[in-house]
Amino acid sequence: MLLAVPKETRAGETRVAATPESVKKLKGLGLDVIVQSGAGAGAKIPDSDYTAAGATIAPDLAATLRDADIVFQVRGPEAGDIALFKKGAVLAALLSPHSEQETIAALAAAGVTAFAMELLPRISRAQSMDVLSSQSNLAGYKAVIDGAATFGRAMPMMMTAAGTIAPARVLVMGVGVAGLQAIATAKRLGAIVSATDVRPATKEQVESLGGTFVAVMDEEFKNAQTAAGYAKPMSAEYQAKQAALTAETIKKQDIVITTALIPGRKAPILVTEEMIASMKPGSVIVDLAAGAGGNTPLSKPDEVVEAYGVTIMGPTNLPGRLAVDASSLYARNLFNFVSLIVDKKTGALNLDWNDEIVKGSAVTKDGAPVTRG
Ligand code: NAI
Repeated sequence: MLLAVPKETRAGETRVAATPESVKKLKGLGLDVIVQSGAGAGAKIPDSDYTAAGATIAPDLAATLRDADIVFQVRGPEAGDIALFKKGAVLAALLSPHSEQETIAALAAAGVTAFAMELLPRISRAQSMDVLSSQSNLAGYKAVIDGAATFGRAMPMMMTAAGTIAPARVLVMGVGVAGLQAIATAKRLGAIVSATDVRPATKEQVESLGGTFVAVMDEEFKNAQTAAGYAKPMSAEYQAKQAALTAETIKKQDIVITTALIPGRKAPILVTEEMIASMKPGSVIVDLAAGAGGNTPLSKPDEVVEAYGVTIMGPTNLPGRLAVDASSLYARNLFNFVSLIVDKKTGALNLDWNDEIVKGSAVTKDGAPVTRG
């Protein structure tokens, strides 16, 4: 069985889906590994390191995919490259299943069995494969680092002979994996941190990290979490109450990190234009939801917008800015996933369609897209 690792083709993608460490482990599973020349360049991994780990280097994408039974990618293939896959190949990647249905239909038509890593069920057994968690954690960290670097003041309180500098105030909106790491990072830098979310479970998590929890805690809030652990879309009434509380809180903030997402839907607007206008000049917003429509109406994907004296950053691939660590964690996640679908004795593909993880993440099967209720 041959496992292939192409060079990523999507604009700005610096990560790679396998590292020399994961190649060694894949070889240990009985798989042969082929890596496209230059695939690791963005993550500072030369071809020679892959060769030393036991991989073969292919000169181009066609040669990488020609005989591959399993393909690992960070982001899905471009439409024009799908014809290069071998019929019957298995693909594991971040496939944006909610927004890239055409790519998924094309993969199905090409006879590729594709798994979207975003859809892994959030059960304990899948934790070691959970790419959303491994990448969001890095995004939350980097959002604070970039926000602090843009902010024209210091983060911690400093008592000097020339007087005292007040600590920065950081508000984190959306306390999932990215939000929790953002709180922890801002605390480590010495900021005064508060945070908000619609899921009740997050109150204790925020407080355990030393943050102050700010939210409208009514009946709807108590039921705002789905069985899968994600947020539900909130009613217009709740959003109005939430907006009033946010309006009061946000005026006093220096840096706001927004991370609120509802899987498969446009991100909720949490910071309105009026709220931005009410912020102090020099404040910074880092909107991690910019790629999903944004948590502010002024955020633009991968752009820095200045409005009312506030800088609004909308990075869509912060893990890609930490490509070495992001690739290393992503590669381990995919290794753990492939361990589930390969027979450890024979190295042959062994897809158990009754397995919750296999069933939950498949987006194509038997030449057709998988439909979900
Ligand atoms: P996400 O990326 O889907 O959303 C980020 C955060 O935004 C969430 O906390 C969500 O509640 C919040 N949000 C949505 N709408 C909002 C609104 N109107 N106002 C304020 N906040 C809003 O979330 P992520 O990071 O994927 O985590 C989702 C859940 O999955 C969490 O409970 C997390 O602990 C859980 N999880 C479980 C794992 C496991 O058991 N294997 C692994 C990773 C996460």
